[in-house]
Amino acid sequence: MKVPDNSNVVIFGASGDLNFRKLVPALYHLFSTDQLPARFFILGVSRSAFTDTEFRQAISSQMLKIEGMDSQRLSEFMEHLYYLSINTADEHDYGRLKERLLALYEQYQAPHNTLYYLATPPSLFGVIPRCLAAHELNKEAEGWKRLIVEKPIGYDFESAVALDDQLHQYFEEHQIYRIDHYLGKETVQNLLVFRFANGMFEPLWSRNFIDYVEITGAELLGVEERGGYYDGSGALRDMFQNHLLQVLAMIAMEPPAAINADATRDEVVKVLQSLRPLSDHDLEHNLVLGQYTESEVRGDTLPGYRDENGVASESRTETYLGLKLQIENWRWSGVPFYVRTGKRLPTRVTEVVIHFRPTPHPVFSQNAPANKLIIRIQPDEGIVMNFGLKKPGAGFEAEDVSMDFRYQDLGETKLLSAYERLLLDALNGDATLFARSDAVLACWKFVAPILNYKDGPMALYGYACGTWGPKEADALLERDGRRWRYPCKNLTNTHYCEL
Ligand code: BG6
Repeated sequence: MKVPDNSNVVIFGASGDLNFRKLVPALYHLFSTDQLPARFFILGVSRSAFTDTEFRQAISSQMLKIEGMDSQRLSEFMEHLYYLSINTADEHDYGRLKERLLALYEQYQAPHNTLYYLATPPSLFGVIPRCLAAHELNKEAEGWKRLIVEKPIGYDFESAVALDDQLHQYFEEHQIYRIDHYLGKETVQNLLVFRFANGMFEPLWSRNFIDYVEITGAELLGVEERGGYYDGSGALRDMFQNHLLQVLAMIAMEPPAAINADATRDEVVKVLQSLRPLSDHDLEHNLVLGQYTESEVRGDTLPGYRDENGVASESRTETYLGLKLQIENWRWSGVPFYVRTGKRLPTRVTEVVIHFRPTPHPVFSQNAPANKLIIRIQPDEGIVMNFGLKKPGAGFEAEDVSMDFRYQDLGETKLLSAYERLLLDALNGDATLFARSDAVLACWKFVAPILNYKDGPMALYGYACGTWGPKEADALLERDGRRWRYPCKNLTNTHYCEL
C-alpha cells in the first residue's frame, strides 16, 4: 500500500534512540520499497545542535551498520531528511519550526500534510501539541495534521485522563494516533484475520468450547540500559497495561461489522470495559509479582534487578507479573484468562494458547490431552493445532499430535516491522491499529486496583534469571488443575524450555 502523494513527517525527539533505531530505519525501508510518495520530507526536531549535514551523517553511519544496506539508495533517502534544533518545551521556538516547515512545503511544492511524531520523553506529550497549536501548526486548512503519541500514554488512570485532556485541547481524536507497537506486529493483526476469515473457529470461540486461555509475553533480557525508566514502571505498566491487554482484546472481541478504525476499536473497547474489576481479595489470590535475582546462567553471573544501573537498591518494582482474570460478558463468562510477562525468563516468546474443553466422556483407555491452539506472535511466528490421534498399533489409545503453520514457510514474504506498518497506516489516515482514547482509559481503569495493591505490603517473590518466574506463578494454575505451557523459541518444540 502506497501513501498518497505529498505527506511529510516531523519527528520530535529526533536525536534520540527511538528515532535512530526504529523510526528512520522504518521510513527508509518504506522508501526503498517505493511505499513513500515521490515528494516527501522528514524533519527531525530536537534540542541537540546538528546541522542538516551533521544529522544526515549521524543517521547514515548508524544505518550503514545494517546488513545489506544499499548505500546508493540510502543517500537518495538522506536527501529527504532535514533537521532543526529548537527547545521543544519553548513555545517561542516554534516560530522557527513554522518558518522551516513553510520553506520545506514550498521547496517540495507540497500541501501541508504532516504527521508529527512525538518520540520524546512523556513530559513533552502535552507541551508539544500546545506549542504547535500556538503557531497554528495543528490547523488542517492546507493539509491534514496528525499526531503520533508514543508510550507511555499516562502513568495511571488520572494522568492518562489529564494527558487526553491536554491532547484534545489542541487536536481532535481523529488526528491522534496512540502507538502500541504490538498492534503493528503482523501476527497480532493476524488474530483478526485468523478469527474472522475462518468460519470453522468462530462457533468454537466461546465459553461453550474454550476451557481457558493463556497469554505469555516472556523476555530473555533484563532491563539493560533502561533501569531508570523501568524502575518507575514495572511489568504491569510496561507490558501488561498496554501490549498484553491489546492482545487479549483481539482474542476476545466480537467480530466487527467491518475492519476500519471505528468498527474495530468499538469492539476492542467493549472487551476492555468488560474485564471484571479486581478487588484486593482477588489480587491476593490471583496476582503473582516477582523480581529477578542475581543468578548463574550457563556459567555467567547475571545481576539481580536491584543491581541494574538506574535501579534503586531496595526497589520493589516487579519484573514479573502473572494474573488470572475474567471477562464478564456472554461469550467469556467463567473462562479464566491467565496472563504472564517477565524479564529474564528462559526465552523471548509471545504467544496465546487457547485450551479447548476436553471431551465430555473419556472413551479411550488413554485419552490425549484436550485440544490446544497455539498462536505464536514471536519469534518463529506461526500457529499450531494440537489434537488426539490413534496411537498406531493394537487397541485404541489416543496420542497428542500437531499440525502447524509457520510464517517462514511463506518463503520470500518479509514481515513488515511494526513501525513500518504503523507509520504507513498513520500516513494513510488509518487509525485501526492505534489505541483509541476510550480503550487506553479502560486499560488504566482495570489496572488501577493493581497499582494500588502494589503500593501496599504485597508479596514480591524473587526468581532466578533463566527460570519461568516465581514458583507461586505455577501455583496460580496448579490450584485450578492446570499448568502453564513452557514454550521454547522453536514453536513446535514441546519440551520444557529452560536455559
Ligand atoms: C516495550 C517495553 O514497550 O516493549 C520493553 O518498554 C519491552 O520493556 C518491549 O522489552 C517488548 O517489545 P517486543 O516487541 O520486543 O516484544
